[in-house]
Amino acid sequence: MNASVPCSGKWWPSTLRDRLFLILFAGLAIAYGLSFSILFIERYMSAKAVMLGTLENDLATSIAILDRLPANERADWLNRLSRGNYRLVLGPGLAGVPDMSGRAAEIAGKIEEAVGHRFPLRVESIPGDSRRLQGHLTLSDGSPLTIDVTPTGVMPIAEWLPYVFAVQMALLVICTWFAVRQAIRPLGDLAAAADALDPNKKGPPLSEAGPSEVAHAARAFNAMRDRIAHYLEERVQILAAISHDLQTPITRMRLRADMADDSPERDKLVHDLGEIERLVQDGIAYARSAHGNGEKVSRIDLASFIDSIAYDYQDTGKLVTVVGLVRGTASTKPHALRRILSNFIDNAVKFAGAAEVSVERRREGNIVITVLDRGPGIPEDMLEAAMQPFFRLEQSRNRETGGTGLGLAIAQQLAAAIGGSMRLYNRAGGGLAAEVTIR
Ligand SMILES: Nc1ncnc2c1ncn2[C@@H]1O[C@H](COP(=O)(O)OP(=O)(O)OP(=O)(O)O)[C@@H](O)[C@H]1O
Ligand SMILES: [Mg+2]
Repeated sequence: MNASVPCSGKWWPSTLRDRLFLILFAGLAIAYGLSFSILFIERYMSAKAVMLGTLENDLATSIAILDRLPANERADWLNRLSRGNYRLVLGPGLAGVPDMSGRAAEIAGKIEEAVGHRFPLRVESIPGDSRRLQGHLTLSDGSPLTIDVTPTGVMPIAEWLPYVFAVQMALLVICTWFAVRQAIRPLGDLAAAADALDPNKKGPPLSEAGPSEVAHAARAFNAMRDRIAHYLEERVQILAAISHDLQTPITRMRLRADMADDSPERDKLVHDLGEIERLVQDGIAYARSAHGNGEKVSRIDLASFIDSIAYDYQDTGKLVTVVGLVRGTASTKPHALRRILSNFIDNAVKFAGAAEVSVERRREGNIVITVLDRGPGIPEDMLEAAMQPFFRLEQSRNRETGGTGLGLAIAQQLAAAIGGSMRLYNRAGGGLAAEVTIR
């Protein structure tokens, strides 16, 4: 997953995981917020209606009672007749202004409806306190009475509800995240498996556990891997069969050539037959190495093993020297390892004229044997390809450097067969390094 897809805006995330998360979370949060707001508005309206309704009823009753009471008893009743959002006061009250708006006008209307038809009434708002109102009226006996209203806020929901809302949002985030992860993770696993796919090596198959779609994809992937491995094996088998079957006619041709009269033509024929023979043998060697070679593991003394390889080359006049060496032993398949190193050294001698062999023991106990040269090296983008069968950098099959292009492919197969790995890299200052790591 990367940001290669052109996006319409900066806020639009580049990964599928973030996009899914954003869409799901935004959708759920908006839907949830909408229902919460509708609930809030609905409750607010009904709470307000109840508040105004009680104001009207209670006020009408309270003023009727006060009107009936003898003037000297009224003061005792005032407290009992007051409510949370209004108080009754004997006397003319405070001076106010008549202009009112919004909620004040609504409350004034209710007061008028409650008492206006029985007593002359004047409702005013009190300057300085925007919410406070006073209704001035005169009771039947002529004494003034003031209704002092301070509307309390209408809070239709419990105070703890916003906290619940926050907790629910957090839960939404966690669940959405979890769901997205569930959906995306198999995709990542599949991509990693495809990245690491190497049908030559028998790695563990992709796990086929999980939801049915994921299991299906994993099964399909494993089947594809097996098919590729099968095709590769078939390719090797064809090569082995052709190489094998060519041996007999080549031998026959060589016998016939040997029996023919001496002539320059005969020498050329024998030389060509020699080359064909080498090709066929390389083909057989490659096919063998692909089948993991049946050699047994044994313990070797590293120093004498490397030295003996170098001596063999020196005996035939090749410039092969051993530089770093470690003492000690290693358990490996000696013939396979010898073949890997010979292929590296052959290349170094062929392309650079000389080879150096160095041995190191790494921290994890791995032994790394490197064949170094100061030749032309291999362009960086061809390093991988150089290990493919029949790959040759220079296409002219010249006599000096002509080869089959199987040396490194065989080395790679054998490295896997001995439980190790090989790597090519260009050296600083020029030249190639071919290293094999054994565990
Ligand atoms: N040390 C090196 N320096 C430069 N190029 C190299 C070196 N080793 C390998 N190569 C390049 O990689 C190619 C593949 O090497 P590989 O050993 O597989 O085949 P080959 O040497 O051409 O043939 P074979 O080994 O089968 O006789 C070579 O043809 C060459 O172009
Ligand atoms: Mg070679």
